[in-house]
Amino acid sequence: MTKISAAITAVGGYVPPDVLSNADLEKLVDTNDEWILSRTGIKERRILKGEGLATSDMAVEAVNELLRKRGITANDLEVIIFCTVTADKIFPSSACILADKIGAKNAFGYDLAAACSGFLFGLETATRFIESGRYKNVLVVGGDKMSSIIDYTDRNTCIIFGDGLGCVLIEPTEEENVGIIDSVLKIDGYGRNFLYQKAGGSQYPPTHESIDAREHFVYQDGKTVYKFAVTGMADVSAQIMERNHLTADDIAWLVPHQANLRIIDATAERMGLGKDKVMINIDHFGNTTNGTLPLLLWEWEKKLKKGDNLVLAAFGGGFTWGAIYIKWAYNS
Ligand code: COA
Repeated sequence: MTKISAAITAVGGYVPPDVLSNADLEKLVDTNDEWILSRTGIKERRILKGEGLATSDMAVEAVNELLRKRGITANDLEVIIFCTVTADKIFPSSACILADKIGAKNAFGYDLAAACSGFLFGLETATRFIESGRYKNVLVVGGDKMSSIIDYTDRNTCIIFGDGLGCVLIEPTEEENVGIIDSVLKIDGYGRNFLYQKAGGSQYPPTHESIDAREHFVYQDGKTVYKFAVTGMADVSAQIMERNHLTADDIAWLVPHQANLRIIDATAERMGLGKDKVMINIDHFGNTTNGTLPLLLWEWEKKLKKGDNLVLAAFGGGFTWGAIYIKWAYNS
């Protein structure tokens, strides 16, 4: 029997039009453009504004673009995996809300929470669904309205995050050696005290006191997270190269999570890659959490050629981290 492989066959993306620049942040907290740019590489981020607008509203825009590009309708979708830490509501899932908003009547789906590594974990799940032969397409959505959980009085976090969302369609391919080839994925709950939201879940349900203490916002011990991220992301990226006998020359693009330009540089250096092979959007979008990796693919799609070797790598809260090796399946 021919082995069924899974490949990305279409990409969509959406970022809201409103820009939050470093100069804007200088008016909110004690910071400055020079510090933010030199420590993180960020110049500006996008913010989703508008009463009642949620992560699923960005998904509607991105998914409709993807469907148009692929020439299919929402009713053709079989599975929707919605990777996010800013679901519209705790329940029902954003996958359900999205399916209703785009009119996907034949899909099942659910949300997947793995912080900044969520899109990688979603990609892995979609790959196995396709390889099993059970489904003929899976939509993986990754995105966040981070502005809904960021404290704009906390300079440790508000300078980093932005809003945005991307999506990919995964379909079977019988072509040899094309598609989503290998993955190294990890979690370590030791990290749960260094990047998290204290209140709002079942451990500390919302109370007036928790709101007053600003415990519904993201807390990050940046130094500790940095230390683990810088080695974690580089380790798995090097490991996936070794396992697949890839040299730096074989790799067309590193597609790294964008938490801090210095973490990205360290990963590229460990892989022996020059800056010309590294996708970067942290300067104009900041860290969009689950949105980062699909948005990179969306922005770079036209430059990607069939057969290009891509390594996607991420590190995030949990801790969660990993790398996925993809041989790009189409020319745009
Ligand atoms: N503006 C100006 N100064 C700031 C500042 C800001 N926004 N934030 C902190 N500072 C100050 C600190 O008070 C400190 O001053 P001091 O030396 O007088 O005490 C100094 O700058 C250095 O602070 P530090 O926290 O050590 O900065 P850093 O170099 O570690 O950078 C992060 C902070 C958050 C950018 C960095 O730690 C980071 O990127 N962490 C990892 C993020 C990540 O990977 N997240 C996971 C995925 S989401």
